[in-house]
Amino acid sequence: MNYQQAINKVYQTVLQGSRLGEAADYIPELARVDADQMGVYLHHNDLSSASAGAWDQNFSIQSVVKVLTLSMAYQKLGSDIWHRVGVEPSGTPFNSLGHLEHEQGVPRNPFSNAGALVVCDVLLDLFDDPRAAMLQMIRESTGNPVIDVNKSIADSEKSEGFRNVALANLIKSLGNIKHDVNELLDLYFDCCSITLNCKDLALLFSFLANQGTCVQTGKALLTPSQTKRINAIMLTCGFYDEAGQFAYKIGLPGKSGVSGAIVAVMPNVFSLAIWSPGLNIKGNSQRGIEFLEGFTNETGQSIF
Ligand code: DON
Repeated sequence: MNYQQAINKVYQTVLQGSRLGEAADYIPELARVDADQMGVYLHHNDLSSASAGAWDQNFSIQSVVKVLTLSMAYQKLGSDIWHRVGVEPSGTPFNSLGHLEHEQGVPRNPFSNAGALVVCDVLLDLFDDPRAAMLQMIRESTGNPVIDVNKSIADSEKSEGFRNVALANLIKSLGNIKHDVNELLDLYFDCCSITLNCKDLALLFSFLANQGTCVQTGKALLTPSQTKRINAIMLTCGFYDEAGQFAYKIGLPGKSGVSGAIVAVMPNVFSLAIWSPGLNIKGNSQRGIEFLEGFTNETGQSIF
């Protein structure tokens, strides 16, 4: 399979398409980004790679980090994590408060904001310094020691994160958040504001393409069975109320973020990161989804 050729072909097609979407504007720092950028990086389990465009341009990880927070909690806590958060698709936007009241503060899944906040609460129990543990894991996996939280993005999120404040307080009132709400929100916003590029992101997710073991370092992060489950939740919940469309069009486990980042995983073969800040109406990268649809059609690589 010549992945570089396939990437070049699909990249050009998507770039020439007319649909771009708009960068997220509810976080002032994200609204400043030029939506007309695109980068792609594929990291193969045989350690080869293929890339196109602005793959080395930095962006904030945003909700893609929810897969990493969940993996860290799952690694330490095992299946007890599922007492605090479910594994069902929500069919709602990422920041919805809807289900919580009648489901007693147990979020539908760990990739909604509600679920990610509960997972961050768990991390505050499990690690003395979860922020440092997260950065250490990211730096080790990517081999990039300068990856860090972008403080101006984190501050920008904190200044406008009213729905997250509401979610954290609602869940706390229902008894599923133990820690101080401000401490928890600081951790969540900092995790979302970690800045990296497509290559970093593809390398970082290689463990999900390799039965839980990081391809490039050989370090085991999850068991094969845990890896299967995380990939299943990505497939069913990774794109909020567009998860069905993503599975239908692309057929790979994946996760999006409002910075326009998407990571997709072909189990036992590769991890692939794409970044293009223009978002569609569901808040997922317009060109990212177009690219992945074209790429999976071109290469025949999907889990189905
Ligand atoms: O909670 C927020 O507003 C963001 N920091 C993360 C949201 C996000 O990336 C949603 N994903 N598509």
